[in-house]
Amino acid sequence: LGGVSDEHHARHERRGEQAVPVTSLRGPTTPTESGRVRRYMLTARTSTIALSSGQQVTAWTFNGQVPGPPIVAVEGDLIEVRLRNADIESGVTLHWHGYDVPSGEDGVPGLTQNAVMPGEEFVYRFLATQAGTYWYHTHEVSDLGVRMGLYGTLVVRPRTAPRTEGVDLTLPVHTFSGMTVLGNHDQPIEQRAAPGMPVRLRLVNTDNTPHRFALTGTPYRLAAIDGNDVIEPGEVSEVGLRLPAGSRYDLVFTMPLELDPAGNGEVRLIVDDRIEGLRLTPPVSGASQARTPTKAAKTAATPSPGPSGPVTSTASWPELDPLAYGRPATPPFDPSAPADRRFTLVLDQGLAMVNGRPAYAQTVNGQAFPSIPTQKVTEGDLVRIKVVNRGRETHPWHLHGHRVLVLSRDGRPPTGSPLYVDTFDVRPGEVWEVAFLANNPGMWMNHCHNLAHADMGMALHLAYE
Ligand code: C2O
Ligand code: CU
Repeated sequence: LGGVSDEHHARHERRGEQAVPVTSLRGPTTPTESGRVRRYMLTARTSTIALSSGQQVTAWTFNGQVPGPPIVAVEGDLIEVRLRNADIESGVTLHWHGYDVPSGEDGVPGLTQNAVMPGEEFVYRFLATQAGTYWYHTHEVSDLGVRMGLYGTLVVRPRTAPRTEGVDLTLPVHTFSGMTVLGNHDQPIEQRAAPGMPVRLRLVNTDNTPHRFALTGTPYRLAAIDGNDVIEPGEVSEVGLRLPAGSRYDLVFTMPLELDPAGNGEVRLIVDDRIEGLRLTPPVSGASQARTPTKAAKTAATPSPGPSGPVTSTASWPELDPLAYGRPATPPFDPSAPADRRFTLVLDQGLAMVNGRPAYAQTVNGQAFPSIPTQKVTEGDLVRIKVVNRGRETHPWHLHGHRVLVLSRDGRPPTGSPLYVDTFDVRPGEVWEVAFLANNPGMWMNHCHNLAHADMGMALHLAYE
């Protein structure tokens, strides 16, 4: 890939950056035999967007919308995204959060590419090899950029799965000037779903801090975590789901066949125990109405618009522990095997050298980016990482390019389905041990996904030697 222009170099030098050689570790240009090419063009620009209530918000957008266009593919497809920057002065890139793309497609400015400046473009290509729920976001001034709206969802469907009848909703949660929104909805999303219909809700946390979700009106299963299927997920109800920053949960259930005694028969998604995010109600016409001629049922089937509080208080519901959920199984590599490399990351806050001066920072082993030593691995290594949180805040730890297997949390191994994640929430005082196979050569970021913390130094590189 040629042509990083002189003008481009000059511009980056003016910004005090080194121009980065574009890595040769790029994605393929053709899909697999059974796949097709999914082409998208995303133009980053400042726009005023309207939330569902009509409220206007100034945002940084892809194609004038927040979230950006949903990227959808089937396993085996080639995803090709042309990113253009119209007017985002600080620059923009696309990072495929949770997707193990080739290093040169990973979208990290200063590491795998230069930031795309106004008037420039960059084309990303990678194979849709992982089915599941993911997301994309800018990685240049990522705290500000994501907060302002430069993100969207990426959903890859399994090639083998039959086309499902039913409801399949991708719901990125985000905070816009203090308001919690799902997609661009600042009011409950109203969706019709017939009794018995299968539903999949794909929850994506695009914020810096965890959100707590609860589902009322039906038992359900937590079918996937960070895009990875849970093995034999059991049915749960009346639990809270804490979704770490950057992570995704897929919830599945069928719409209730019978109306409950209160005449509801509806399912609600409650965010942070106080916001009604989504209301799924049976269609007004047809069998369900004929079967339920009561006034209460009719009222429930035609909800009045406008905000309404949750019907059930979910705040007292216990939190589901993903480490104790689903059926245990043998992971694809033996986590008890001796590790080829071991790293310990102690997370804290305090003074550290930043740009040659002491500054208040979020630190890893007492240092701040870019002074934290790079983790070096060799292809094929089994790598163990211990993350210790000595700080006062939760640190959702995120590794690019690899999924990690959770070995233990505070010394206790998981008792449920093997837990593969790209982001894990290390709360104050906690110690997590994870392992991964070094099978994706290149240069990678390893950072706190509270992006404000990453900006304050809590980030380092992982490099294959
Ligand atoms: Cu979603 Cu480096 O981040
Ligand atoms: Cu953090």
